[in-house]
Amino acid sequence: MSADDSTTDPATTGDIGDLPQHVAMIMDGNGRWAKQRGLTRSEGHREGAKAVRMAVTKSRELGIRHLTLYAFSSQNWSRPKAEVDSLFSLLVEFCENEKQLMIDKGIRLNLIGDRDPLPLVARAAVKAVEAATRRNRDMVLHVAVNYGGREELVRAARRIAEDVARGVLSPADVDERAIESRLWTAGVPDPDLIIRTSGELRVSNFLLWQLAYAEMYVDECLWPDFDWPRYELALRSYTRRERRFGGVG
Ligand code: IPE
Ligand code: IPE
Ligand code: MG
Repeated sequence: MSADDSTTDPATTGDIGDLPQHVAMIMDGNGRWAKQRGLTRSEGHREGAKAVRMAVTKSRELGIRHLTLYAFSSQNWSRPKAEVDSLFSLLVEFCENEKQLMIDKGIRLNLIGDRDPLPLVARAAVKAVEAATRRNRDMVLHVAVNYGGREELVRAARRIAEDVARGVLSPADVDERAIESRLWTAGVPDPDLIIRTSGELRVSNFLLWQLAYAEMYVDECLWPDFDWPRYELALRSYTRRERRFGGVG
């Protein structure tokens, strides 16, 4: 982050403590939020986009280097077509509406997941923002779309097998690094903090490898209600914890 950056306000950030360098979020509860109001699930997702903007802007202001948002899982294709279509339309809108913000704030967009099956218009919109922001260094916004942790590990295993078959990798050299470097998140530090909204106590196929030592935080609120005071509480909870990584602390 540049020294003259006016978006970082020490008055609001100084007292939280040692912030995570990578926060991951399972944005859950849009459907329930809509149902409570007699709205369609798609309208719930649209409302959820506001919380996305909050999470991106606040993370950037705080100097968090990586933010990963779970937007669409490999399993979410099983939802009604109208809902799936609306999620990809929202992705396109997000790319169009937030492109300038990402350019202005030094945020790089990086999609993780298998993008090939996505509608062409969504792929193109993402690619355009990735290209426009590829030199940005202040924060990376990783958006997980058609992402599954198991799918990611299967793909890494297949790539390792191909490299062994081609003779460029020996089985004895298959170590953590060999796997990590073949994930969609290759080179990205593991999340320090994982936040899930809507009270569910499960990971739902998100970042299975990368979450090994992440601190977990579950907020009871539904994703569209996830605002800055709630995000701040999650960060404060994180900074109070003792991380041990298998040691004795
Ligand atoms: C948003 O919440 C997560 C996405 C898959 C886009 P949901 O759509 O899962 O909402 P709930 O869990 O049904 O309330
Ligand atoms: C996880 O939420 C996926 C995303 C947030 C994109 P789901 O709503 O799909 O997960 P389950 O079905 O509750 O496990
Ligand atoms: Mg859900």
